Amino acid sequence: MEIDSSLDFSPELLKKLILRSAEIIEEWYSIGIRNSKIYRNYSPADIRSLFDEPMPVEGSNPEKLLEKIRKDVFRASNFNPSPNYYGYITGGGNHASIIAELLKASLNQNNLKWHSAPANSEIEKIVVKWICQFINYPDDAGGVLVSGGSVANFLNLAVMRKVMCPGDIANDGLYGGTRITVYVSEQGHSSIDKAMDMLGLGKNYLRKVPVDDNLRVNTKILEETIREDRSSGLMPACIIGIAGTTNNGAVDPLKELGNIASKYNMWYMVDGAYGLPAAGTEMAGHLFEGLEMADSLLINPHKWFFVPFEASCVIVKNKKLLRDTFSLMPDYLRGGQEETERDDLMNYNLQLTKDFKALKVWMTFKTYGAGKLKKAIENDCGLAQYAKLLIEKADDFELMAPVPLSIVCFRYTGKNGRYTGDEQKLDNINEKILDGIEKDGRIFFAGTKIKGRTSLRINLTNHRRTKADIDFLFKVLRQIAGKTIK
Ligand SMILES: Cc1ncc(COP(=O)(O)O)c(C=O)c1O
Repeated sequence: MEIDSSLDFSPELLKKLILRSAEIIEEWYSIGIRNSKIYRNYSPADIRSLFDEPMPVEGSNPEKLLEKIRKDVFRASNFNPSPNYYGYITGGGNHASIIAELLKASLNQNNLKWHSAPANSEIEKIVVKWICQFINYPDDAGGVLVSGGSVANFLNLAVMRKVMCPGDIANDGLYGGTRITVYVSEQGHSSIDKAMDMLGLGKNYLRKVPVDDNLRVNTKILEETIREDRSSGLMPACIIGIAGTTNNGAVDPLKELGNIASKYNMWYMVDGAYGLPAAGTEMAGHLFEGLEMADSLLINPHKWFFVPFEASCVIVKNKKLLRDTFSLMPDYLRGGQEETERDDLMNYNLQLTKDFKALKVWMTFKTYGAGKLKKAIENDCGLAQYAKLLIEKADDFELMAPVPLSIVCFRYTGKNGRYTGDEQKLDNINEKILDGIEKDGRIFFAGTKIKGRTSLRINLTNHRRTKADIDFLFKVLRQIAGKTIK
């Protein structure tokens, strides 16, 4: 007797479900964009109670499941595509990518090998080239799409470690080798610390270099530290320039860093997870002068190319070094090599199988063109300047940091600036405002610390925003401040 083990729907049902999903997506955008709270303040228990049940042994009706998703998953999710969402560094997502994601899942390409994912393998190389062209970096570089900036920092440092560490570390590990040091601004992203830990390089060998008043790395102290480390027997191996810090978008002096790296024969890497797309714009391109000197970099399409999660890109100028770091061929993966032109994606990545991320990046570039993407990035930078101006003109807010790209750090100072000068009080009231924002739910963002003080921090990487949205933000903030601060 044959067992019916097929998981397929009938063609009619498949189509019906896809069409219903399309309606749900359309509804989410048309109702959600400006109309409702974007954060609903459910407790973890509230959300758990919607989904927590014993493992289903019997299946359910997929049409009913779609309604459950519409009702409960969508309701309990943040409305991040909204222009009222200023949290973390999240791109607004774009419609073209949503279609690409749907199609990608149906293709289900096993893209570790060229012959198991021909279109995927070639399209990924093409989008890496386009990204290089967009940011004015040599387009014969090697590159690979990965999940996010943290993983990209890890892979990038793994390449550096392979190139710079003396000895055969692939086989012998780092045991007993020369200790290498890595340099980054104290504003560097925490994923660099994690990578130092996990690559066996050690966080104690990551030098966090102080910054200047603009929160850019202080190159004088950097060079002094490199010299000190050298004279104490360490091997300064890598400088990481940040092209758009997470806190305020500061872009390190990339050219100066490149010159220091070549003076001391060091690897030069740029973390542009957030800010690098702005290198391709007329408005901000000048900030990235010297980028072409970098040996490697990372850039996240899922931030400022407005691609939905997940997509980050590792780029290494000398493609061979990226390949040499990750290429390892077990017997079962040797097939399909007869064509020398075939270049397997797995040779450039820690991951073997991964999803077809390149399709949504390709769709984004093809649908909008580099021109429109640049305009959207410039619009974000322009609105950040608008927000900055409003803060400078206001007597109840003050700026906490320069605004080079799309992030604005500021704080509430009380009506007519009545708390100005009282740092402790300012910390307290701004913490309260941050709590109040969550409770209110009409806008969303989290705070940070700037020079040790509590700061409100908005990030504007969203192509749907206008000046009216910024005006709304300050209106809501004043209402929240009025309610929370007695
Ligand atoms: C400069 C920088 N590097 C790395 C990352 C980590 O990226 P992801 O969140 O994609 O892991 C971020 C995240 O905001 C970042 O701003």
